[in-house]
Amino acid sequence: MAYTVLARKYRSQTFDDVIGQDPIVQTLKNAIRTDRVAHAYLFAGTRGVGKTTMARVLAKALNCLSVDAPTTGPCCKCDGCIAINIGEDIDVIEIDGATNNGVEQVRELRQNAIYRPARSRFKIYIIDEVHMLTVPAFNALLKILEEPPSHVKFIFATTEPNKVIATIQSRCQRFDFSNIGPGQIAGQLKFVLEQEKIKYEEDLVLPLAKMANGSMRDGLSLLDRLISVGVEPLSVSLLEEFLGCPNSEKIWNLVAQIGAGDAAGTFAAIEDLISTGISEVQIVDSLVDYMRDLMVVKSTGAESELLILTGRQRKRAGELAEKFDVAALIYNIATLEKLRWAIKNSDRSRALLEASLLRFALSEHFLNVDELLRQLQTGSGAVKKKEPRSVKSQASSESPETRDEGRGTRDEGRASGIEHPASSIEHQTSKNEHRASRIENRGKTSGQKRNELINDPAVKTVLMGLDATITGVEENQ
Ligand SMILES: Nc1ncnc2c1ncn2[C@@H]1O[C@H](COP(=O)(O)OP(=O)(O)OP(=O)(O)O)[C@@H](O)[C@H]1O
Ligand SMILES: [Mg+2]
Ligand SMILES: [Zn+2]
Repeated sequence: MAYTVLARKYRSQTFDDVIGQDPIVQTLKNAIRTDRVAHAYLFAGTRGVGKTTMARVLAKALNCLSVDAPTTGPCCKCDGCIAINIGEDIDVIEIDGATNNGVEQVRELRQNAIYRPARSRFKIYIIDEVHMLTVPAFNALLKILEEPPSHVKFIFATTEPNKVIATIQSRCQRFDFSNIGPGQIAGQLKFVLEQEKIKYEEDLVLPLAKMANGSMRDGLSLLDRLISVGVEPLSVSLLEEFLGCPNSEKIWNLVAQIGAGDAAGTFAAIEDLISTGISEVQIVDSLVDYMRDLMVVKSTGAESELLILTGRQRKRAGELAEKFDVAALIYNIATLEKLRWAIKNSDRSRALLEASLLRFALSEHFLNVDELLRQLQTGSGAVKKKEPRSVKSQASSESPETRDEGRGTRDEGRASGIEHPASSIEHQTSKNEHRASRIENRGKTSGQKRNELINDPAVKTVLMGLDATITGVEENQ
């Protein structure tokens, strides 16, 4: 017998089998129970989330031959149900909107629609990718949608609802299908693996489900590919080797090197990843996911349900999160997003990747502003800095005394926090106390300014060039 792909073999048969679309299931069931089924539905959502599946379940519910009226629990055994399941029923007509998109086809549909169904209660038209219809075809469709014969139902499906003209949309009841959560996809993958009696390692399922990006079909297709490798038990290392996703151990190591501020370690970890044959873009994508997880750990704790991680990964994320502050993680994620774009458009993708990741690794040294403020506020004053370089900033060319005395005038009109290390910070406990209290008093505004400053890439670059840091931020009053 020919092999049937898992996605088809495990297509949900009834409303209760459809995963992750509960509000839609409930509304449709209710409409059937109360005899208020609309004459046209628009199912919108990304690929592989259950639109066609739900359309077929609804068609079976309306037309099941084993009962006298529409039912929320079609039998799935009668000739009608069986034919609908495979998309070949005489009264449930599935049309691909991408290829039958002209006005002629819609006219033909209109002419046929007036005839009563051959053996069922309703003649049901399921039009897939309905957004592909031409404008004249849409207009031809409008006429029949306005006043359809009572025996006709339409179910339109689309991945791009914004391309379906408003006059069509307003004549349909629209349902937006959600992307399916990784936990639910993982549950289905486990179910399928067990039904198929395939051995697998427990740790495999979540990463695989995450790779599906919200699409159940993609999850099942990935599983098909993995099974076809022919090695059991299915494992994470198989996934990484054959589906080309970056090795998770190596990515964790890269994040750890960045967290430790280890420049040489960061370079080595990048090399280690690239030598496995994955691209710079894949590394960036993975880093965004990992940094996001660390950000969640920092904000809500390692046990958060927002983390789709195994127990071991959770523990490690908890430990690694200690090495980062939230502001840095936010900055890193935003930078990675821009970097992704830059890398795709550059012939020097590796250098760009290395430069950015090195900056992440080193920026912690230069700009741990929270720590700096803490020191200022406790008056410990002596912020450990490196020896000055030959580059001179404007601030450093003045003596500390001059600068402090002149502060009254300098305060008017600027945030003066960027200072050269050796010339400014190390010596002044009482002045720091004074400055810290000013910062405190100014509360939110200073905080905002501080954030603006530390997140400004230009400021970061200048600070790194000067080997300098931010000591305080004063208001522009
Ligand atoms: N919500 C779901 N619950 C259970 N299985 C699902 C679900 N969504 C998709 N699947 C699985 O994925 C397969 C494809 O789903 P379906 O054809 O319904 O997707 P679709 O939303 O119509 O996608 P497309 O936009 O690509 O046509 C199904 O046969 C089923 O195995
Ligand atoms: Mg479909
Ligand atoms: Zn039936």
